[in-house]
Amino acid sequence: MLFMRLQKYIADCGIASRRGAEKIIESGRVCVNGELVDYMGCEINPESDIVELDGEVINPETKKYYIMLNKPKNYVTTVKDDLGRPTVMELVRDINARIYPVGRLDFDTTGLLILTNDGEFANMITHPAHEINKVYIARVDKPLDEEQLTLLRTGVEIDGAKTAPAKAENVKNPKRGLEVKITIHEGKNRQVRKMLESVGSEVYSLKRISVGSLTLGNLPEGKWRKISEAEINKLRGRKGKK
Ligand code: URA
Repeated sequence: MLFMRLQKYIADCGIASRRGAEKIIESGRVCVNGELVDYMGCEINPESDIVELDGEVINPETKKYYIMLNKPKNYVTTVKDDLGRPTVMELVRDINARIYPVGRLDFDTTGLLILTNDGEFANMITHPAHEINKVYIARVDKPLDEEQLTLLRTGVEIDGAKTAPAKAENVKNPKRGLEVKITIHEGKNRQVRKMLESVGSEVYSLKRISVGSLTLGNLPEGKWRKISEAEINKLRGRKGKK
């Protein structure tokens, strides 16, 4: 069983730094399992002990984390992988909370992935009823013609069901050349790849560049950053529709 110092536990709850937590303990505001602890050296079992501050139960999940990662290729977007493949969790090790990926990107897809420990927020982003737009850039073999673009824009059949109308356009990237920009709000398995394949386009690579109002910007691949409060509010308020 993993025991930890009480002040570290309080700091992990996002209430104060460890030094600050020591002061809080010494001031007699903390109880463990109903017993006042106002001295240093107390170790607790975070799985089973109940810690109260000023009479309110606190736990590390009290503090909400919202981060965005630029996912590289060859990582799975799950917390654990039965096949032993690298998971995105390895790239966000320094976050000391039980965060998890919001939605998924394929093993071979790169780009914007949100991770959080806020279930309500994760649900808001992934629930189909909220129709949050996600924008993808695909490198393809040749430009899409008008017929292909119209098919994607009206909906194509994949896995026996028609996709909702998407935005689709050819774009020229000064560095990488021809690309296709696709905006969808659904989240079917390998949806963008299958949509492009269904209109006869060969996909060389796929990257997600935005989720609702949140954009990847120039965050390097494999790196993460905190999503600001303003960005979270914008995502919540506008439901991400652009
Ligand atoms: N569509 C895909 O095909 N793959 C992804 O990872 C996300 C959307």
